[in-house]
Amino acid sequence: MSNPDHPPAVGVLDQGPELIFPPGFLWGAATAAYQIEGAATEGGRTPSIWDTFSHTEGRVLAGHTGDVACDHYHRMPSDVRLMAELGLKSYRFSVSWPRVQPGGSGPANAEGLDFYRRLVDELLGHGIEPWLTLYHWDLPQPLEDAGGWPARDTAGRFADYAELVADALGDRVTYWTTLNEPWCSAFLGYGSGVHAPGRSDGADAVRAGHHLMLGHGLAVQALRASRPQAQLGITVNLYPVTPASDAPADVDAARRIDALANRFFLDPVLRGSYPTDLAADLREVTDFGHVRDGDLAVISTPLDLVGVNYYSRHVVAAPVEGAEPEPYWRAPSCWPGSEDVRFVTRGVPVTDMDWEIDAPGLTETLRRVHEEYTDLPLYVTENGSAFVDAVVDGQVDDGDRLAYFDAHLRAAHEAINAGVPLRGYFAWSLMDNFEWAWGYTKRFGMVWIDYDSQARIPKSSARWYAEVIRRNGLAAQ
Ligand code: FCB
Repeated sequence: MSNPDHPPAVGVLDQGPELIFPPGFLWGAATAAYQIEGAATEGGRTPSIWDTFSHTEGRVLAGHTGDVACDHYHRMPSDVRLMAELGLKSYRFSVSWPRVQPGGSGPANAEGLDFYRRLVDELLGHGIEPWLTLYHWDLPQPLEDAGGWPARDTAGRFADYAELVADALGDRVTYWTTLNEPWCSAFLGYGSGVHAPGRSDGADAVRAGHHLMLGHGLAVQALRASRPQAQLGITVNLYPVTPASDAPADVDAARRIDALANRFFLDPVLRGSYPTDLAADLREVTDFGHVRDGDLAVISTPLDLVGVNYYSRHVVAAPVEGAEPEPYWRAPSCWPGSEDVRFVTRGVPVTDMDWEIDAPGLTETLRRVHEEYTDLPLYVTENGSAFVDAVVDGQVDDGDRLAYFDAHLRAAHEAINAGVPLRGYFAWSLMDNFEWAWGYTKRFGMVWIDYDSQARIPKSSARWYAEVIRRNGLAAQ
């Protein structure tokens, strides 16, 4: 179905009716500093928690680290040319905190900032809108040594860092998001420990979540004061949470996981309060004594936009006797206070991450944020899939990834038709990269990276995406 508000432009189409996106829709692709830059010890950069974690035996698959990654630090100008060839309207990147403020406090490192100045200049020179994420998980190691995100002081350090980046780049960057996926930082980093810094304590995870949001609010206030024209937001990773059946115990399991995965962040940031059921669920874990008067007012400082990362759905059920413990994001330690909830596998197609493919969940998620929380413009700041790719005759034919993007863009379009003010979409990821605890074993890129030669090969999905951008839409099915 095409959008009646935005009829296809005459002459642009060479086949049938199309699904056309609103004029000015921001088509982009995303990456993150530690996943692509490499140059871990160059230009004054000091270690982050991900350097320490990846260099600790047994933490990252195959002992992979981000030391070299995609060598983007040295190849940035040609990478930006590649973005321009794909016709990207925007590029979402993250700034490495320990590159621009070694150690996480004190003065800026001019050489580190200069890398991002050059990146922004290259982007603008190619007509590509820079979209800057301040924190994509690379906390400077000394701040972790001083307590990390469970410590309140880290929030203040983050706001100082935000100010320093704003001073350097605020004249040229319009779009700013503070945190990427605070759920992952808090619950994978301090709950289950599968992400850096690899700690495992439910109460610390909950405190980390709070201090991340406090840091977000303080950073928004600092950025707003110094850059009143900037468009400010946060990126959260959201999941529809569905009960496996309508049995009350399953419905309650879904409520609990929804509280931890989604409402833990949406409610404080967009409503200025924690959900009351969350506090009740967590009563054995924490009394929320770390929340001080005034914190929620800071956390809910008004924003200009909300970024949503969407990958999959959680289907959950009440505990049964003798159920097998589940790995990774289903690990009980990710879900303090709900350790006994079962994550159910439905047997639908999955990606190479074992994440179920569920495009309608994107429509549902966007509608929920809009209908239950906010009228602010929404952006899909990440969406994508890992599949096992191969180079054959110099080409990478990634039809499964292309189909994933296609289905999710249709779902995004459906959300727009339902009234969601969705203003842009960023594919995850521009290129294959260091996929955290999975190292280089999972490929999410539209561009293939040969990690030996650092050659870049745009996959079929990249060529297809370039055409989507050119048309501002998709062919009708
Ligand atoms: C998200 C992260 C991103 C990438 C994708 C696959 O959780 O933000 O860095 O790892 O998942």
